[in-house]
Amino acid sequence: MKTPKRIQPLIEDGLIDEVLRPLMSGKEAAVYVVRCGDEIRCAKVYKEAEKRSFKQATQYQEGRKVRNSRRARAMEKGSRFGREQQEQAWQTAEVDALYCLAKAGVRVPKPYGCFDGVLLMELITDSEGHVAPRLNDVAMTAEEARAGHATVIEYVARMLCAGLVHGDLSEFNVLVDDCGPVIIDLPQVVNAAANNHAQRMLLRDVDAITGYYGQFAPELLDSHYGREMWALYENGKLYPDTKLTGHFQMTTASADVDAVLFEIEAAWVEEQNRQQRLREA
Ligand SMILES: Nc1ncnc2c1ncn2[C@@H]1O[C@H](COP(=O)(O)OP(=O)(O)OP(=O)(O)O)[C@@H](O)[C@H]1O
Ligand SMILES: [Mg+2]
Repeated sequence: MKTPKRIQPLIEDGLIDEVLRPLMSGKEAAVYVVRCGDEIRCAKVYKEAEKRSFKQATQYQEGRKVRNSRRARAMEKGSRFGREQQEQAWQTAEVDALYCLAKAGVRVPKPYGCFDGVLLMELITDSEGHVAPRLNDVAMTAEEARAGHATVIEYVARMLCAGLVHGDLSEFNVLVDDCGPVIIDLPQVVNAAANNHAQRMLLRDVDAITGYYGQFAPELLDSHYGREMWALYENGKLYPDTKLTGHFQMTTASADVDAVLFEIEAAWVEEQNRQQRLREA
């Protein structure tokens, strides 16, 4: 196919040999199947800032570290230079998260770097080489749902141990290959310790995943893995091999306004997911 303009510089630099076909064009990015030497990989081209939607909202950026202080000041001031730096920080957040999570024992596509706003990564496929389906397209038994849920929850806990919260986890951002779930789509990843919204986002991520698998194994809907892992994390007691139970003792002492807000948010997310499912059906 004709090479998309944004991928041309990677072809000129010899990082990509050929663009084979478009895979998906979402709200935030366009994804292509590409050939690099003998390997088939995947190239995610981020949309320009003004064409993107929610994921760049300031609540996701809070607490992100910018190593260079001149750059940090420019980003705060919102000058053109600052906006360019902000854009670059956004584009490298996903590749940084992929490297970090692979090291933390979370299954993610293997990253090959991010160049000029194009992320090169492993193409997740089934054993026959077809692109792996998203979780929302996979039918499963109750037993498979329990196993898949346990794996994704373990990945969410390992992410939290590594200091990160996905921030947009759902059945649309998990691929399933022959070895199980693979987590994707991480540019909005949130710093767990430095972002005031991190707990809310973690609970929302866990609710979305549990709500999905819970359709096939309803008993999952009574679990509280998000609250359990956050409480352990806050107390410095969450480790990559911590065995989670899904049980959590809710406080009955006094009205917990935060908890009520979480429930409202969770109901809202469930409704958004339901609507997205309807749109995608
Ligand atoms: N490494 C990969 N291997 C196989 N397919 C992938 C890979 N990365 C992305 N995809 C496919 O491309 C789609 C879009 O990717 P991704 O979710 O990262 O981008 P997005 O545009 O930010 O998403 P959204 O549609 O959620 O806004 C995915 O749903 C998936 O089907
Ligand atoms: Mg996505």
